[in-house]
Amino acid sequence: MQASAGSGRDQILLEARGITKYFGAVTALEGVNLKLSRGEVLGVVGDNGAGKSTLMKVLSGLFRPSEGEILIQGQPVQFNSPRDSHKAGIEMVYQDLALAGNMPIFENIYLGREPGRRVGGLTIVNHAESRKLAAEHLARLQIHVKSVDQNVEDLSGGQRQAVAIARATAFDAKVVIMDEPTAALAIKEVGKVLDLIKRLKDHGVGVILISHRMDDVFYVCDRVMAIFHGRNFAEAPLKDTNRNEVIGWIMGTKGHAAGLAHDKVH
Ligand SMILES: Nc1ncnc2c1ncn2[C@@H]1O[C@H](COP(=O)(O)OP(=O)(O)OP(=O)(O)O)[C@@H](O)[C@H]1O
Ligand SMILES: [Mg+2]
Repeated sequence: MQASAGSGRDQILLEARGITKYFGAVTALEGVNLKLSRGEVLGVVGDNGAGKSTLMKVLSGLFRPSEGEILIQGQPVQFNSPRDSHKAGIEMVYQDLALAGNMPIFENIYLGREPGRRVGGLTIVNHAESRKLAAEHLARLQIHVKSVDQNVEDLSGGQRQAVAIARATAFDAKVVIMDEPTAALAIKEVGKVLDLIKRLKDHGVGVILISHRMDDVFYVCDRVMAIFHGRNFAEAPLKDTNRNEVIGWIMGTKGHAAGLAHDKVH
């Protein structure tokens, strides 16, 4: 994780230009633009099937765009796999699906990327080191668990989500993408996950949050952008909009205060 947001706040970490994605005859995305700065939380909203997850899968290297380009700190990049985007500092948090329930927290954080020595084609995993690093990382994020040796299946939904976020940020992530991280959580756990997002922001990480929950968007985001039928529809700094307007965007309507002419698409 990076030190602090400081003066680099306006630095563009990630930019997508003109992203189009076809699935056979289906156009899931058409010419979508997106910009994310250091220490910024960008809310992405849109109706079911609008293209939000597809856009994030393009940004995290799971899908290749049919057209368009991705830039990291101004440099064009091509991702052929999530490994490429990971190397570029982009991490996507999947819900607990991506965690191994029958393994302890510390192993989940470093799964497949454990600290250790490379000997021939093998990595000799240093468990003591991985335990220590995991505990330090959780403490930095103020994630409280009884022990890093606890199995993930014994955690609450919110704690599991927190471990997934810890995993995503364990390796100097510049950008963390979260697709509906609170959808399956109880209300009191939602708050904890949202506070964790605020902490990532304080560390200078750029966060993209897909959410259908207006409470989440208005609690944690700096800016919100709406995708409608695979295209940019509207966007605004959070302070310049309100829930009703954003709900309108999701349904494809714009009030007189909103709209692309007004809220320039970056
Ligand atoms: N692998 C795929 N193959 C074919 N079509 C796909 C694939 N993935 C997504 N689509 C289509 O692309 C469109 C956008 O889907 P996407 O999952 O990005 O929507 P979404 O905005 O994330 O919706 P939701 O809010 O329901 O999660 C949909 O019409 C969907 O059916
Ligand atoms: Mg989706």
